[in-house]
Amino acid sequence: MPALPFNRKVSVAPMMDWTDRHCRYFHRLISPDIFLYTEMVTSPAIIHGDREKLLGFSEKEKPLALQLGGSNADELARCAGVGAEWGYDEINLNCGCPSDRVQSGSFGACLMAEPQTVAKCIAAMQREVNIPVTVKSRIGIDDFDNYDFLKKFVETVAATGCNIFIIHARKAILKGLSPRENREVPPLIYDYVYRIKQEFPQLHITLNGGVKTVDEIQTHLKHVDGVMIGRAAYQNPWLLDEIQTEIFQKPTGQTPQQVVEAMLAYADAHLVRGGKLSNVTRHMLGMFPGQRGARLWRQALTAGEVLEPGANSTVISKALRFINA
Ligand SMILES: Cc1cc2nc3c(=O)[nH]c(=O)nc-3n(C[C@H](O)[C@H](O)[C@H](O)COP(=O)(O)O)c2cc1C
Repeated sequence: MPALPFNRKVSVAPMMDWTDRHCRYFHRLISPDIFLYTEMVTSPAIIHGDREKLLGFSEKEKPLALQLGGSNADELARCAGVGAEWGYDEINLNCGCPSDRVQSGSFGACLMAEPQTVAKCIAAMQREVNIPVTVKSRIGIDDFDNYDFLKKFVETVAATGCNIFIIHARKAILKGLSPRENREVPPLIYDYVYRIKQEFPQLHITLNGGVKTVDEIQTHLKHVDGVMIGRAAYQNPWLLDEIQTEIFQKPTGQTPQQVVEAMLAYADAHLVRGGKLSNVTRHMLGMFPGQRGARLWRQALTAGEVLEPGANSTVISKALRFINA
């Protein structure tokens, strides 16, 4: 097993439009030890776009991986270099996204059919940076859905020296399913991911897909090195506190209210930089599941005053008063 600079036992998945810098800052406040990922950023966007907007983050979010989308080895290598210069701790290549937009650029999940191309991209990125270059894939695509296909993919990519793989334990169906359906319809086959770990014990294998509870994380950790949580972490952020306590065994002792209060200064600083309050509050809706006042909390953070020009963190403080009132 490679010596890794950070604890990667549990991570929050890269999620477009969800795991932006505000979300990550919020997640980091809840769990100091969880490993975080950006949303996918495509290599052409980094080369031609506004880098501060695409890559900017707070030091507090670290350890943090930048996920890249692309299939051009030279471009990806350049972007990996840019990511390392910006201070990211890992560069991850997306080989799991099934959206049409991504397929027309020939990257994401369709790259699983071209393990040699992935290997070439990873090798080019590794030459450019000294931080880990990792891969996030599915277990297969379309009719390439047997275990040997996955094994060949991992074997080919691992031959570059890449030793950290994150595997979403369901295949992607490239035609006919929306990205959302592709996260729900193809069955989860955790056994494929467990077998990869058995056959490649020297690799760090993280399992992803459908994991919702600390108990489930504990079960998977008996078979693999890490677990990545997507939707459950976003929809129920306080799960990260349970992970901090039960998995990392380093409880912070904070209450959800205290975390929200710690977000007030962050939200106001975002406003000073010209941002909107709702950019920050939209990630905090799921903070009080099942508690009295949770519906009013969510309403206050999504509609009305929060959207008005000049709205500041007092909107959040006021919303907090609904909880258990
Ligand atoms: C809104 C949303 C956006 C996503 N965007 C990305 C992305 O940018 N890159 C990626 O590799 N996966 C993306 N995914 C997939 C997740 O990283 C993860 O693999 C998937 O949700 C399964 O994990 P879960 O069952 O824990 O949610 C996205 C998922 C969601 C829900």
